[in-house]
Amino acid sequence: MKTAIHQKLPTNWDQREKLRDKGQFWTPAWVADAMVAYVAQGADLVFDPGVGKGAFYDSLKKLDRKTKFYGTDIDPTIIDEAKSEGIFDDNSKVEVRDFILNPPQKLFKAIVANPPYIRHHRLSLEQKNQFRKISLVNLGSTLDGRAGLHIYFLIQALTLLDKGGRLAFIMPADTCEGVFSKKLWSWISKKYCIDGVITFEHKATPFPGVDTNAVIFLVKNEKPKEKITWAKCLSPQDKGLFEFLKNDLVGKSYKDIDIYERDLMEALSVGLSRAPRTDHDYEFTLTDFARVVRGIATGANEFFFLTREKAKEAGIPDKYFIPAVGRTRDAEGSYLTKDSLLKLEGKGRPTLLFFPNGSRWDDMPETVKTYILNGEKAGLSKRALISTRQPWYKMEVREIPIFLFSYLGRRNARFIKNEAGIVPLTGFLCVYPRSNDAEYIKKLWTILQDPNTIANLQLVGKSYGSGAIKVEPRSLERLPISSNLVHELGLKPIRSELSLFS
Ligand SMILES: C[S@@+](CC[C@H](N)C(=O)[O-])C[C@H]1O[C@@H](n2cnc3c(N)ncnc32)[C@H](O)[C@@H]1O
Repeated sequence: MKTAIHQKLPTNWDQREKLRDKGQFWTPAWVADAMVAYVAQGADLVFDPGVGKGAFYDSLKKLDRKTKFYGTDIDPTIIDEAKSEGIFDDNSKVEVRDFILNPPQKLFKAIVANPPYIRHHRLSLEQKNQFRKISLVNLGSTLDGRAGLHIYFLIQALTLLDKGGRLAFIMPADTCEGVFSKKLWSWISKKYCIDGVITFEHKATPFPGVDTNAVIFLVKNEKPKEKITWAKCLSPQDKGLFEFLKNDLVGKSYKDIDIYERDLMEALSVGLSRAPRTDHDYEFTLTDFARVVRGIATGANEFFFLTREKAKEAGIPDKYFIPAVGRTRDAEGSYLTKDSLLKLEGKGRPTLLFFPNGSRWDDMPETVKTYILNGEKAGLSKRALISTRQPWYKMEVREIPIFLFSYLGRRNARFIKNEAGIVPLTGFLCVYPRSNDAEYIKKLWTILQDPNTIANLQLVGKSYGSGAIKVEPRSLERLPISSNLVHELGLKPIRSELSLFS
């Protein structure tokens, strides 16, 4: 069954977007086989709510011929395709059905899924209303709007899990890293038994070429336990993962799988997608030493963020600009200097942020007025973010940060010393030490460059398939800083309340 085992992703952007609209990424056989081996134990029927081309049924057929299979999918074309390829036979029943709006009215002993991962802005209003209902009825309150369809697949499926039943879902890591995760897992962990969590090393990712960090959740409808089994697959497997899940997570020596027993509470507080925290002495976090704010959002970089050449062409005097850096790629290494800025200019990269704040209209030269009026004619003043500003061309204000944090990059996330005196755009976070004392800044810089500090980013960031980490300002403030390092350097924490008066 070639399609279900190896999905060749279309290189054409349009087709790929269509796949994204429907969340149609098939589970590879080595992963599907293992998940089915886990849920099928003791069940006479396995249910897949988003069956697609039947990857899980393929696995079930290989496992045993007696257990029946039931699948639903919203997309009739995909079901027809799978039928014509002979994937479904007499032992299976497959229906076109929307699992969110019209779930089956029965309980199941075994549910397995790779739920559709569709970004929330692609969902219909009807679906979103149903999400509210699902979470209100089950969790007692609604979840943050950023929770996608896959989250509601999981909640809905759990409510259809029979007593003693088993569920295996492969989901993106945002399921346990998103803003909504705490509420979600607090509900799951109180009501169900979280049996195991399987994560994947980058080179073992089940979905090469798709930028998500996949995690398998293994849950039983039984009394919650205090310990969970947490594992990391180190390479794409032929047998190890299958044996491990078929053996009901018993045993510790499977090839290329690291297995840990973890306290549920510890795993939940660190985040189920993250490895156990070995060092618990986080007396300090970055907020004790610095404040973090996101970079400037212009609302229209093409208008507000100019190259030296464009500024000259428009005849705008220098005093209407402040130096800025936009792209992560424009700040290489650990230092951004005046020289780096000149190099960027030389490459024709924009480095000038239009900053007419504080100038009265009547005092502006004609060139500046014309530039602004042209922007207005182009409709910029009506754009969502820009229209909230008074006047619309007024720029957001940031003090020049001492440090920048490059928060999402293919290359490693890192801190940068801002020796060029720039303000950054949204590709960066601004890090302001809580003291302007030169010695304090020097010590903090030592800490920010320490490999332990960088390694801790994974404890607070959101992970992506490629190994990139995205860290929001509040999360970066929670970055654990090694106590040893702080004591060694003699750096004093300045708690935020105090800094209000300093
Ligand atoms: C990620 S694919 C997984 C397919 C298959 N189970 C596998 O693992 O290869 C998710 C499937 O869910 C289907 N889907 C999307 N929204 C759905 C909904 N509301 N109800 C049922 N299925 C849905 C998609 O059409 C897609 O086939």
